[in-house]
Amino acid sequence: MAGILGFGGYAPAQVMTNDDWAQLVDTTDEWITTRTGIKRRHIAASDETTLDLAAVAAERALEDAGLSPSDIDEIIVATDTPEVYTPDTASFLQDRLGTPEVPAYDLGGSGCAGFVQAIDVARARIHLHPKRVLVVGVELITRLVSWKDRATAVLFGDAAGAVVMGPDDGKAKVLDVVSGTDGSKTEILTLLVGGTRYPFGPTVAETEEHQHLIMHGQEVFKEAVRRMTQAVRDVLERVGRTAADVALVIPHQANKRIIDAVRRRLEVDEDRVYVNIEEYGNTGSASVPLALWEAKEEGKIAEGDLVVLTAFGAGFHWAAAALQF
Ligand code: UT7
Repeated sequence: MAGILGFGGYAPAQVMTNDDWAQLVDTTDEWITTRTGIKRRHIAASDETTLDLAAVAAERALEDAGLSPSDIDEIIVATDTPEVYTPDTASFLQDRLGTPEVPAYDLGGSGCAGFVQAIDVARARIHLHPKRVLVVGVELITRLVSWKDRATAVLFGDAAGAVVMGPDDGKAKVLDVVSGTDGSKTEILTLLVGGTRYPFGPTVAETEEHQHLIMHGQEVFKEAVRRMTQAVRDVLERVGRTAADVALVIPHQANKRIIDAVRRRLEVDEDRVYVNIEEYGNTGSASVPLALWEAKEEGKIAEGDLVVLTAFGAGFHWAAAALQF
């Protein structure tokens, strides 16, 4: 048995509107709003790094759980935009929080599905050894992708979200998690430069290829709808429930039209799907835990509620988790 003991989230103070973007690239508030549902996104200050975002969300989750860093037995950080290339962000976070010298590791590169995958890993670790695991989803993506490519730049924002998990029901019991990967679709969403296939070098720096997020938007859109819908159906079937039993679906916030398409397929009313994309844009691995934290803070989740998280991301990965509050 594993449950969530505390929730935390954080978005940087600085806000950038669609009109702000329209000053920088050939776009309009109307295009971004109608195609994506995004109105604003939060951008990290120049002296903030991934670690700073992660640390605030983690501290809030610890406080919500009534725990201190010394109570943590393991740390998992899901991110595609780490503090440095190596070592992982989790190592920096262990030191910053001052937890004991516990196992700490990143789930890197799994795109926006990373946090829900990390919940599954944490759950398995807790089953093996009853322990308290800090799980963070964090992204400072606006610093690493091109600000010149209107097709991708306007979609993203920076944020972090976190939960503390433990070996009892806590505030929300993790009933089950499903996840999967179709590795034949790595090319539809990828940042190619920086690994061994395309190492970073002077030519790359000149062409700025290291900031070029390749995204086949419409294919990603279709896969996202198909996979998130199926993941929700699968996890509900595993726990013997149906979409009619779900109080709130918390999907990855990549595009309001993707969320609406999933909602229609699941036949869930609009008021049972949490949406905050208007305020934050796509915050990658932070999107689901930030929305989960915010939904709780806003009183949108009551005791007894069945809540389903679902996400997709580069890989192509997908995942869904059923939580019983
Ligand atoms: O973690 C990342 C996950 N990524 C996603 O989830 C992306 C999923 N896909 C989507 O959300 C949508 O495909 C987008 C929002 C990215 C694009 O919407 P779309 O309705 O699929 O538009 P499109 O790609 O078919 O582009 C339509 C037009 C194109 O112009 P032409 O060729 O019709 O003349 C684009 O060049 O819109 C143009 N366009 C823009 N126009 C104004 C693309 N980006 C912009 C922009 N402003 N920012």
